[in-house]
Amino acid sequence: MKKGWVESKVKEFSLIGGYKKPQLHEDVLKLDSNENYVISKQFQSDIISGAKKNSDVREYPLGGVERLIEKISEFLHVPSSMIGVGNGSDQILDIILSNFASEETKVLTSNPTFGFFEERCKLYSIPVIAIPFSQDMALDIAEFVKQSKNADILYLDSPNNPTGFQFPKNDLQKLVKSFDGLVIIDEAYGQFGDYTLANTVKNQKNLVVVQTLSKSFGLAGLRLGYFVANKEFTATFNQVLQYPYPLGTISIESGILALEKSGQIQESVNIIKQERNRIIENLRKYDAFEVFDSKANFVLFDAHGAYQRVYTALIEQGISIRKLGKVGNHEGCLRVTVGTKEMNSKFLLAIRDLLG
Ligand SMILES: Cc1ncc(COP(=O)(O)O)c(C=O)c1O
Repeated sequence: MKKGWVESKVKEFSLIGGYKKPQLHEDVLKLDSNENYVISKQFQSDIISGAKKNSDVREYPLGGVERLIEKISEFLHVPSSMIGVGNGSDQILDIILSNFASEETKVLTSNPTFGFFEERCKLYSIPVIAIPFSQDMALDIAEFVKQSKNADILYLDSPNNPTGFQFPKNDLQKLVKSFDGLVIIDEAYGQFGDYTLANTVKNQKNLVVVQTLSKSFGLAGLRLGYFVANKEFTATFNQVLQYPYPLGTISIESGILALEKSGQIQESVNIIKQERNRIIENLRKYDAFEVFDSKANFVLFDAHGAYQRVYTALIEQGISIRKLGKVGNHEGCLRVTVGTKEMNSKFLLAIRDLLG
């Protein structure tokens, strides 16, 4: 064994940098992580107290994941044999990448794409072909089709984080059908978009659709992600690639209860979509901003040279949004999560005070 290899490995990893989490601020309106505050606190406390009653954490959660998968299956109307779960969809993406991709396989995605996914590709030295967004934050389907033959894995977060863009369904389906390698469609924000591909997986052997309870269900802290794929892929993922116990008992039981109450979710999704339009319309009143359309629970806007000032002024007002800076050709991007009506009004008022 070569002396010093541990130190050099640690050094090599440290240079990669890793995924940048938002800055932690105490006592602020948190509009920086695409969380969902429209789901009531009551919903959360009901499921957590129910989960506590159903849990015995002295035991490993044997059979727990299988019961959760049954509930996801009822929710999606997809056979349970086509569903797998993970500790957040982050973990699902990581498991797929670390096992299916390598220095020899190429990933085709957009630029920008989901930051965590991009960082994982760097970590595993996976070459990436990234198609840039246009000036108005749209993607060119023809460019993707053209590059398809050069790649082994296609990854798209649809709707995209951080732009909010979603391909028209027909375009995306055509692209997916024409791709011979593994296709990962990350629908973390799917419920806020125009459509989902979860129900098309049965006709497409190489497609994995990843979703999460973090966004539309407002349960980011429970770390409950899942995917839909063909039976063979799913069985191998669940039995070989995934940990024996990927989720904690409280998370499993809470997820089951949340899915039983999924009727309440659509209502909050509708509010978020309406509020998203209100934020876009309001921000578009300011010449200082370029505001992009969104199919997700957040809005991206370019505040150009003023973005640092806007970000800092909002923090001083107790409002935290995401400071992204350069996104594609846009230098001063900020991303704001769609919160409750009250949160959004406070944000818009603070913007008016600053620029009005
Ligand atoms: C596009 C995208 N995919 C996946 C995730 C991760 O979600 P989870 O909380 O399920 O790990 C996020 C979180 O922000 C995201 O933006």
